Amino acid sequence: MKIAITGGAGFIGSGLALKLQKDHEILIIDKMSSNEILDNGNLECFGHFKNLLDFEGELYVGDIKDEKTLQKIRKFKPDVIFHKAAISDTTVYNQNKILTTNLNTFKDFIELSIDINAKLIYASSASVYGNQPSPQKVGVEDPKNPYAFSKLMMDKIARKYYDKAHIVGLRYFNVYGKGEFYKNKTASMVVQFAHQILAGKNPRLFEKSDQIYRDFVYIKDAIDANLVALDSKCGVYNVGSGVARTFQDIVDILQKELGTNLPCEYIPNPYIKAYQFHTQAELSKDWAYQPKFSLEMGIKDYLDEIKRLFEKEVNA
Ligand SMILES: NC(=O)c1ccc[n+]([C@@H]2O[C@H](COP(=O)([O-])OP(=O)(O)OC[C@H]3O[C@@H](n4cnc5c(N)ncnc54)[C@H](O)[C@@H]3O)[C@@H](O)[C@H]2O)c1
Repeated sequence: MKIAITGGAGFIGSGLALKLQKDHEILIIDKMSSNEILDNGNLECFGHFKNLLDFEGELYVGDIKDEKTLQKIRKFKPDVIFHKAAISDTTVYNQNKILTTNLNTFKDFIELSIDINAKLIYASSASVYGNQPSPQKVGVEDPKNPYAFSKLMMDKIARKYYDKAHIVGLRYFNVYGKGEFYKNKTASMVVQFAHQILAGKNPRLFEKSDQIYRDFVYIKDAIDANLVALDSKCGVYNVGSGVARTFQDIVDILQKELGTNLPCEYIPNPYIKAYQFHTQAELSKDWAYQPKFSLEMGIKDYLDEIKRLFEKEVNA
Protein backbone atom coordinates (compact mmCIF):
# COMPACT_ATOMS: atom_id res chain seq x y z
CA MET A 1 0.00 0.00 0.00
CA LYS A 2 0.93 3.65 -0.32
CA ILE A 3 0.54 5.32 3.05
CA ALA A 4 0.70 9.00 4.02
CA ILE A 5 1.31 9.79 7.68
CA THR A 6 0.80 13.37 8.85
CA GLY A 7 2.65 14.17 12.04
CA GLY A 8 4.95 11.30 11.10
CA ALA A 9 8.00 12.82 12.78
CA GLY A 10 6.14 12.93 16.10
CA PHE A 11 5.68 10.24 18.71
CA ILE A 12 2.87 8.01 17.45
CA GLY A 13 3.32 8.86 13.75
CA SER A 14 7.01 7.93 13.67
CA GLY A 15 6.36 4.64 15.49
CA LEU A 16 3.69 3.79 12.93
CA ALA A 17 5.96 4.75 10.00
CA LEU A 18 8.83 2.63 11.28
CA LYS A 19 6.53 -0.34 11.81
CA LEU A 20 4.90 -0.13 8.37
CA GLN A 21 7.86 0.80 6.17
CA LYS A 22 9.02 -2.78 5.58
CA ASP A 23 5.92 -3.66 3.59
CA HIS A 24 4.59 -0.33 2.36
CA GLU A 25 5.60 2.89 0.61
CA ILE A 26 5.42 5.70 3.15
CA LEU A 27 5.20 9.48 2.80
CA ILE A 28 5.60 11.42 6.03
CA ILE A 29 4.25 14.94 6.29
CA ASP A 30 5.43 17.00 9.26
CA LYS A 31 6.06 20.66 9.99
CA MET A 32 8.99 19.65 12.27
CA SER A 33 10.02 21.47 15.42
CA SER A 34 11.33 25.02 15.03
CA ASN A 35 11.67 28.00 17.34
CA GLU A 36 7.90 28.64 17.21
CA ILE A 37 6.66 28.71 20.80
CA LEU A 38 3.08 28.59 22.08
CA ASP A 39 1.71 30.93 24.75
CA ASN A 40 2.48 28.35 27.49
CA GLY A 41 6.18 28.41 26.54
CA ASN A 42 6.12 24.94 24.91
CA LEU A 43 7.17 24.27 21.32
CA GLU A 44 4.36 24.38 18.77
CA CYS A 45 5.64 21.29 16.93
CA PHE A 46 7.48 18.34 18.36
CA GLY A 47 8.42 16.60 15.08
CA HIS A 48 12.08 15.60 15.50
CA PHE A 49 14.59 14.20 13.01
CA LYS A 50 15.92 11.75 15.61
CA ASN A 51 12.58 9.92 15.55
CA LEU A 52 13.25 9.22 11.87
CA LEU A 53 16.89 8.13 11.85
CA ASP A 54 15.83 4.63 10.70
CA PHE A 55 13.12 5.85 8.32
CA GLU A 56 13.60 4.80 4.69
CA GLY A 57 10.58 6.46 3.04
CA GLU A 58 9.96 10.06 1.93
CA LEU A 59 9.73 12.99 4.34
CA TYR A 60 8.00 16.17 3.20
CA VAL A 61 8.31 19.10 5.57
CA GLY A 62 5.10 21.07 5.32
CA ASP A 63 2.22 22.54 7.27
CA ILE A 64 -1.14 20.76 7.09
CA LYS A 65 -2.69 24.25 6.85
CA ASP A 66 -0.87 24.80 3.56
CA GLU A 67 -2.51 23.94 0.23
CA LYS A 68 0.87 22.84 -1.15
CA THR A 69 1.02 20.12 1.51
CA LEU A 70 -2.39 18.82 0.49
CA GLN A 71 -1.29 18.83 -3.15
CA LYS A 72 1.77 16.80 -2.18
CA ILE A 73 -0.45 14.13 -0.60
CA ARG A 74 -2.89 14.21 -3.53
CA LYS A 75 -0.04 13.59 -5.99
CA PHE A 76 1.32 10.72 -3.88
CA LYS A 77 -2.18 9.18 -4.04
CA PRO A 78 -2.08 7.12 -0.85
CA ASP A 79 -4.41 4.21 -0.15
CA VAL A 80 -4.45 5.28 3.50
CA ILE A 81 -3.89 8.55 5.32
CA PHE A 82 -2.98 8.28 8.99
CA HIS A 83 -3.66 11.80 10.17
CA LYS A 84 -1.75 12.47 13.40
CA ALA A 85 -0.50 16.03 12.87
CA ALA A 86 -1.91 18.38 15.47
CA ILE A 87 -1.01 20.72 18.23
CA SER A 88 -0.90 17.88 20.73
CA ASP A 89 -0.44 19.98 23.87
CA THR A 90 -3.47 19.86 26.19
CA THR A 91 -2.29 22.89 28.19
CA VAL A 92 -2.57 25.43 25.34
CA TYR A 93 -5.37 27.93 25.87
CA ASN A 94 -5.02 29.91 22.63
CA GLN A 95 -8.30 28.72 21.14
CA ASN A 96 -7.69 30.29 17.75
CA LYS A 97 -4.31 28.62 17.39
CA ILE A 98 -5.50 25.14 18.41
CA LEU A 99 -8.68 25.19 16.38
CA THR A 100 -7.18 26.57 13.19
CA THR A 101 -4.49 23.90 13.26
CA ASN A 102 -6.44 20.87 14.48
CA LEU A 103 -9.97 21.52 13.28
CA ASN A 104 -10.00 23.74 10.17
CA THR A 105 -7.59 21.46 8.36
CA PHE A 106 -9.58 18.34 9.10
CA LYS A 107 -12.36 18.99 6.60
CA ASP A 108 -9.67 19.33 3.91
CA PHE A 109 -8.36 15.91 4.85
CA ILE A 110 -11.83 14.38 4.71
CA GLU A 111 -12.46 15.89 1.27
CA LEU A 112 -9.06 14.79 0.04
CA SER A 113 -9.66 11.23 1.26
CA ILE A 114 -13.00 11.10 -0.53
CA ASP A 115 -11.49 12.50 -3.77
CA ILE A 116 -8.60 10.07 -3.92
CA ASN A 117 -10.49 7.17 -2.35
CA ALA A 118 -8.09 6.81 0.59
CA LYS A 119 -8.97 5.46 4.02
CA LEU A 120 -8.64 8.15 6.69
CA ILE A 121 -7.53 7.07 10.16
CA TYR A 122 -7.21 10.15 12.35
CA ALA A 123 -6.16 10.91 15.92
CA SER A 124 -8.91 11.96 18.28
CA SER A 125 -8.25 11.97 22.02
CA ALA A 126 -9.53 10.70 25.36
CA SER A 127 -9.29 14.29 26.57
CA VAL A 128 -12.78 14.73 25.06
CA TYR A 129 -14.20 12.86 28.06
CA GLY A 130 -13.08 15.36 30.68
CA ASN A 131 -14.29 14.00 33.99
CA GLN A 132 -17.12 11.84 32.71
CA PRO A 133 -17.42 8.69 34.85
CA SER A 134 -15.17 5.73 34.04
CA PRO A 135 -15.12 3.67 31.97
CA GLN A 136 -15.49 6.41 29.37
CA LYS A 137 -17.70 5.63 26.41
CA VAL A 138 -17.96 7.20 22.98
CA GLY A 139 -21.03 9.47 23.08
CA VAL A 140 -20.57 10.80 26.64
CA GLU A 141 -18.07 13.67 26.38
CA ASP A 142 -17.26 16.82 28.32
CA PRO A 143 -14.13 18.55 26.95
CA LYS A 144 -12.39 20.79 29.48
CA ASN A 145 -9.86 22.57 27.26
CA PRO A 146 -9.59 23.90 23.69
CA TYR A 147 -7.47 20.93 22.61
CA ALA A 148 -10.13 18.46 23.76
CA PHE A 149 -12.82 20.56 22.11
CA SER A 150 -10.89 20.54 18.81
CA LYS A 151 -10.80 16.74 18.85
CA LEU A 152 -14.49 16.40 19.70
CA MET A 153 -15.38 18.73 16.83
CA MET A 154 -13.27 16.59 14.50
CA ASP A 155 -15.24 13.51 15.56
CA LYS A 156 -18.51 15.32 14.91
CA ILE A 157 -17.48 16.37 11.40
CA ALA A 158 -16.14 12.91 10.58
CA ARG A 159 -19.51 11.30 11.35
CA LYS A 160 -21.16 13.27 8.55
CA TYR A 161 -18.95 11.52 5.98
CA TYR A 162 -19.13 7.90 7.07
CA ASP A 163 -21.22 7.09 3.99
CA LYS A 164 -18.63 8.58 1.64
CA ALA A 165 -15.27 7.26 2.90
CA HIS A 166 -13.65 4.87 5.34
CA ILE A 167 -13.07 7.19 8.30
CA VAL A 168 -11.99 6.05 11.75
CA GLY A 169 -11.16 8.25 14.74
CA LEU A 170 -8.89 6.88 17.49
CA ARG A 171 -9.33 8.28 20.97
CA TYR A 172 -5.92 7.69 22.47
CA PHE A 173 -5.73 7.65 26.25
CA ASN A 174 -2.29 8.37 27.84
CA VAL A 175 0.20 6.87 25.40
CA TYR A 176 3.78 6.24 26.54
CA GLY A 177 6.80 4.62 24.94
CA LYS A 178 9.60 5.00 22.42
CA GLY A 179 9.44 8.20 20.34
CA GLU A 180 7.93 10.50 22.96
CA PHE A 181 11.14 11.96 24.39
CA TYR A 182 11.22 14.97 22.05
CA LYS A 183 7.80 16.08 23.30
CA ASN A 184 9.77 17.53 26.21
CA LYS A 185 7.48 18.45 29.11
CA THR A 186 4.47 17.03 27.28
CA ALA A 187 6.03 13.55 27.08
CA SER A 188 4.43 10.95 29.36
CA MET A 189 5.26 10.92 33.04
CA VAL A 190 6.76 7.45 32.55
CA VAL A 191 9.84 8.82 30.83
CA GLN A 192 9.93 11.98 32.96
CA PHE A 193 9.80 10.11 36.29
CA ALA A 194 12.30 7.54 35.01
CA HIS A 195 14.82 10.23 34.13
CA GLN A 196 14.37 11.92 37.52
CA ILE A 197 15.05 8.59 39.20
CA LEU A 198 18.05 7.77 36.98
CA ALA A 199 19.48 11.20 37.88
CA GLY A 200 19.14 10.25 41.57
CA LYS A 201 16.49 12.96 42.11
CA ASN A 202 13.36 12.46 44.17
CA PRO A 203 10.41 11.80 41.82
CA ARG A 204 8.13 14.86 41.80
CA LEU A 205 4.41 14.07 41.68
CA PHE A 206 1.28 16.13 42.06
CA GLU A 207 -0.34 15.94 45.49
CA LYS A 208 -2.68 12.93 45.89
CA SER A 209 -1.11 11.16 42.91
CA ASP A 210 -2.20 7.85 44.40
CA GLN A 211 -5.75 9.02 43.70
CA ILE A 212 -5.28 10.31 40.16
CA TYR A 213 -6.11 7.45 37.80
CA ARG A 214 -5.33 7.31 34.11
CA ASP A 215 -5.55 4.70 31.44
CA PHE A 216 -1.90 4.43 30.35
CA VAL A 217 -1.51 2.71 27.00
CA TYR A 218 1.76 1.46 25.57
CA ILE A 219 2.87 2.69 22.14
CA LYS A 220 2.91 -0.83 20.65
CA ASP A 221 -0.78 -1.23 21.50
CA ALA A 222 -1.55 2.27 20.15
CA ILE A 223 0.15 1.38 16.86
CA ASP A 224 -1.78 -1.88 16.64
CA ALA A 225 -5.01 0.08 17.02
CA ASN A 226 -4.18 1.94 13.80
CA LEU A 227 -3.86 -1.34 11.94
CA VAL A 228 -7.11 -2.66 13.38
CA ALA A 229 -8.78 0.58 12.24
CA LEU A 230 -8.00 -0.23 8.62
CA ASP A 231 -10.57 -3.04 8.70
CA SER A 232 -13.02 -1.63 11.23
CA LYS A 233 -16.38 -0.07 10.57
CA CYS A 234 -16.36 3.74 10.29
CA GLY A 235 -16.54 5.19 13.78
CA VAL A 236 -14.74 6.62 16.76
CA TYR A 237 -13.00 4.13 19.04
CA ASN A 238 -11.15 4.20 22.34
CA VAL A 239 -7.46 3.30 22.40
CA GLY A 240 -6.54 2.53 25.98
CA SER A 241 -5.39 -0.41 28.05
CA GLY A 242 -8.86 -0.69 29.55
CA VAL A 243 -7.33 -0.38 33.04
CA ALA A 244 -6.98 2.71 35.26
CA ARG A 245 -3.70 3.12 37.15
CA THR A 246 -2.29 5.96 39.23
CA PHE A 247 0.72 8.20 38.68
CA GLN A 248 2.02 6.77 41.96
CA ASP A 249 1.89 3.29 40.36
CA ILE A 250 4.25 4.50 37.61
CA VAL A 251 6.83 5.70 40.14
CA ASP A 252 6.51 2.54 42.20
CA ILE A 253 6.99 0.26 39.17
CA LEU A 254 9.96 2.33 37.96
CA GLN A 255 11.63 2.27 41.36
CA LYS A 256 11.19 -1.49 41.54
CA GLU A 257 12.64 -1.98 38.04
CA LEU A 258 15.51 0.44 38.65
CA GLY A 259 16.26 -0.85 42.15
CA THR A 260 15.81 2.49 43.90
CA ASN A 261 13.80 3.67 46.88
CA LEU A 262 13.91 7.46 46.54
CA PRO A 263 11.40 9.43 48.62
CA CYS A 264 8.74 11.17 46.48
CA GLU A 265 8.09 14.92 46.56
CA TYR A 266 4.49 16.07 46.25
CA ILE A 267 3.74 19.44 44.66
CA PRO A 268 0.43 21.29 44.13
CA ASN A 269 -1.30 20.52 40.82
CA PRO A 270 -1.40 23.75 38.76
CA TYR A 271 -3.88 22.29 36.25
CA ILE A 272 -6.44 21.24 38.86
CA LYS A 273 -9.38 23.14 37.27
CA ALA A 274 -9.13 21.39 33.90
CA TYR A 275 -7.61 18.10 34.98
CA GLN A 276 -8.81 14.56 34.36
CA PHE A 277 -8.86 12.61 37.63
CA HIS A 278 -10.02 9.20 36.46
CA THR A 279 -9.80 7.91 32.93
CA GLN A 280 -10.37 4.38 31.78
CA ALA A 281 -11.26 3.30 28.27
CA GLU A 282 -14.35 1.29 27.63
CA LEU A 283 -13.28 -1.11 24.89
CA SER A 284 -16.44 -1.79 22.96
CA LYS A 285 -17.23 -5.18 21.46
CA ASP A 286 -17.55 -3.85 17.91
CA TRP A 287 -13.88 -2.78 18.05
CA ALA A 288 -11.45 -5.64 17.39
CA TYR A 289 -8.49 -3.90 19.07
CA GLN A 290 -7.09 -5.83 22.03
CA PRO A 291 -4.38 -4.19 24.13
CA LYS A 292 -1.62 -6.57 25.19
CA PHE A 293 0.51 -4.51 27.59
CA SER A 294 -0.20 -3.93 31.27
CA LEU A 295 1.58 -0.90 32.78
CA GLU A 296 4.19 -3.24 34.27
CA MET A 297 4.83 -4.93 30.90
CA GLY A 298 4.97 -1.67 28.97
CA ILE A 299 7.46 -0.07 31.38
CA LYS A 300 9.64 -3.19 31.31
CA ASP A 301 9.63 -3.21 27.51
CA TYR A 302 10.47 0.52 27.40
CA LEU A 303 13.24 0.51 29.99
CA ASP A 304 16.26 -0.05 27.70
CA GLU A 305 15.18 2.88 25.52
CA ILE A 306 14.64 5.05 28.63
CA LYS A 307 18.18 4.25 29.79
CA ARG A 308 19.63 4.87 26.30
CA LEU A 309 17.94 8.29 26.19
CA PHE A 310 19.24 9.11 29.63
CA GLU A 311 22.78 8.33 28.56
CA LYS A 312 22.73 9.86 25.07
CA GLU A 313 20.32 12.79 25.45
CA VAL A 314 19.79 13.77 29.08
CA ASN A 315 23.31 13.23 30.34
CA ALA A 316 25.17 13.95 27.10
N1 LIG B 1 0.41 10.81 22.85
C1 LIG B 1 -0.78 10.75 23.43
O1 LIG B 1 -0.88 10.30 24.59
C2 LIG B 1 -2.01 11.22 22.72
C3 LIG B 1 -3.22 11.17 23.41
C4 LIG B 1 -4.38 11.59 22.76
C5 LIG B 1 -4.32 12.04 21.45
N2 LIG B 1 -3.13 12.13 20.80
C6 LIG B 1 -3.12 12.65 19.42
O2 LIG B 1 -2.40 11.75 18.60
C7 LIG B 1 -1.69 12.49 17.60
C8 LIG B 1 -0.21 12.16 17.72
O3 LIG B 1 0.22 12.48 19.03
P1 LIG B 1 1.73 12.45 19.44
O4 LIG B 1 1.78 12.13 20.88
O5 LIG B 1 2.47 11.63 18.47
O6 LIG B 1 2.09 13.99 19.30
P2 LIG B 1 3.34 14.70 18.64
O7 LIG B 1 3.26 16.13 19.03
O8 LIG B 1 4.58 13.93 18.93
O9 LIG B 1 3.04 14.54 17.08
C9 LIG B 1 2.31 15.50 16.34
C10 LIG B 1 3.14 15.84 15.12
O10 LIG B 1 2.42 16.77 14.32
C11 LIG B 1 3.33 17.72 13.83
N3 LIG B 1 2.59 18.96 13.53
C12 LIG B 1 2.03 19.81 14.43
N4 LIG B 1 1.41 20.82 13.77
C13 LIG B 1 1.59 20.58 12.45
C14 LIG B 1 1.18 21.26 11.28
N5 LIG B 1 0.48 22.40 11.34
N6 LIG B 1 1.52 20.76 10.06
C15 LIG B 1 2.25 19.60 9.98
N7 LIG B 1 2.66 18.92 11.06
C16 LIG B 1 2.33 19.39 12.29
C17 LIG B 1 4.37 17.91 14.92
O11 LIG B 1 5.60 18.40 14.43
C18 LIG B 1 4.48 16.50 15.48
O12 LIG B 1 5.52 15.79 14.86
C19 LIG B 1 -1.99 13.96 17.84
O13 LIG B 1 -3.04 14.33 16.98
C20 LIG B 1 -2.43 13.99 19.29
O14 LIG B 1 -3.30 15.06 19.53
C21 LIG B 1 -1.97 11.72 21.41
